[in-house]
Amino acid sequence: MADYFNKLPIAIDAAYLEPNVMQEMIEGKRDEIAAADNALRSGTCPGAEFIGWLKPGEILAPDEIARIKLTAAKLAHETDIMLVIGIGGSYLGARAIIEALAKDPGKVVYAGQNISADYLTKLKVQLKGKRIAINVISKSGTTTEPAIAFRILKDLVSDELATEMIVATTDVNKGALLKMATDAGCEKFVVPDDIGGRFSALSAVGILPIAYAGISIDSLLQGASACAALCANTDPLTNPAYFYAAARNILYNNGIAIELMASFEPRLHFIAEWWKQLFGESEGKNHKGLFPAAVDYTTDLHSLGQYVQEGRRIIAETFLMIDEGEPSLTIPVSEKNIDGLNYLAGREVSWVNQKAYEATSKAHRDGGVPNMTIHLKKLDATALGALIYFFEIACAISGLMLGVNPFDQPGVEAYKKEMFNLLGKPGCGEAGESAIERKFISF
Ligand code: PA5
Repeated sequence: MADYFNKLPIAIDAAYLEPNVMQEMIEGKRDEIAAADNALRSGTCPGAEFIGWLKPGEILAPDEIARIKLTAAKLAHETDIMLVIGIGGSYLGARAIIEALAKDPGKVVYAGQNISADYLTKLKVQLKGKRIAINVISKSGTTTEPAIAFRILKDLVSDELATEMIVATTDVNKGALLKMATDAGCEKFVVPDDIGGRFSALSAVGILPIAYAGISIDSLLQGASACAALCANTDPLTNPAYFYAAARNILYNNGIAIELMASFEPRLHFIAEWWKQLFGESEGKNHKGLFPAAVDYTTDLHSLGQYVQEGRRIIAETFLMIDEGEPSLTIPVSEKNIDGLNYLAGREVSWVNQKAYEATSKAHRDGGVPNMTIHLKKLDATALGALIYFFEIACAISGLMLGVNPFDQPGVEAYKKEMFNLLGKPGCGEAGESAIERKFISF
């Protein structure tokens, strides 16, 4: 067993950050980090009204956790599939955990995260005749994408079953979804006022679908609380989240523009999607911030890998690796050995994957891409609870060090304003008002 796991099932290997990020540079960030930490915990930072996620053990009262478990168990018993309708922070946390951990991730399907007629049409066909539970999630209760999906797909649940099988997770006091759910007599769960969408994975927003998928929400929350306890001090050399925040800040100030999250495990794909939203929406403002992007290796080593190795030197990489617990699958011996693979006969596939990671991180470092690796001891609910919290608090501190409000997302409104004009939404101008003349080049 690796000996670098001490109090947490997460560890950071920073060797290949050098020489771009050296220990003394991290130490040099101590005052900045202490100031950001103080502003966050004293509630004096920008966006302080949205720090309800800071104490993961206090997000949900014990009776609310019990109600979520009960609802999830009942729905799981009485239905084949849960349809989660939501977008952004109202769906990515649940999807990230479910795709990574569920025995049968296909038991939960998603809508409202796009406006594709094709996607919705195929989903309707796929779900027809199945016993469906719907968890519609929207803090504002008015977001266009999930509202359209809910209107189109809610008939998958018959009128007689709607009260029991449709569950709404939304604001406690306001919004169209709250009214609809109240009028229909559906079960409701709350998106807390003091938690923004992308920080809501460990609230009812994420927890209900996660519990439906059969994942231990107790372990998830315990992992998050253990991480919170370890991240309570301000020293970046002992607080892993603050180390990560300091390293990102140093890289950014030295001309790195992109942080690429790279994993060698397809079931971590949506962890990276969740992480992209967390950091992109929190930091990308005032023309600042590392652009968070993600790759799935080794798949993308045969496409984007070329750019990473030899393109513009504006990328830093963060590998996300699982150390233990992968299934045993060995490469068989072949008598004729026509493919020349017998040198690997008897080797575990996971061992080969591990060597691919070791080779990639070294080649990229040698090619001028500073990189670090976040190791998960094992892919389980405890580790992922810790990881979620690790990224949340790192993101808050990183955003504050950057001088932005990590908890708002004013830029998201720009496309909505233009879209509502084009759609002719009442009160948002005349239809098509803001359209500019398109310039087609016909061939
Ligand atoms: O992180 C955020 O705040 C956003 O991604 C929201 O979660 C997303 O826009 C969906 O909003 P709502 O939950 O109000 O439908």
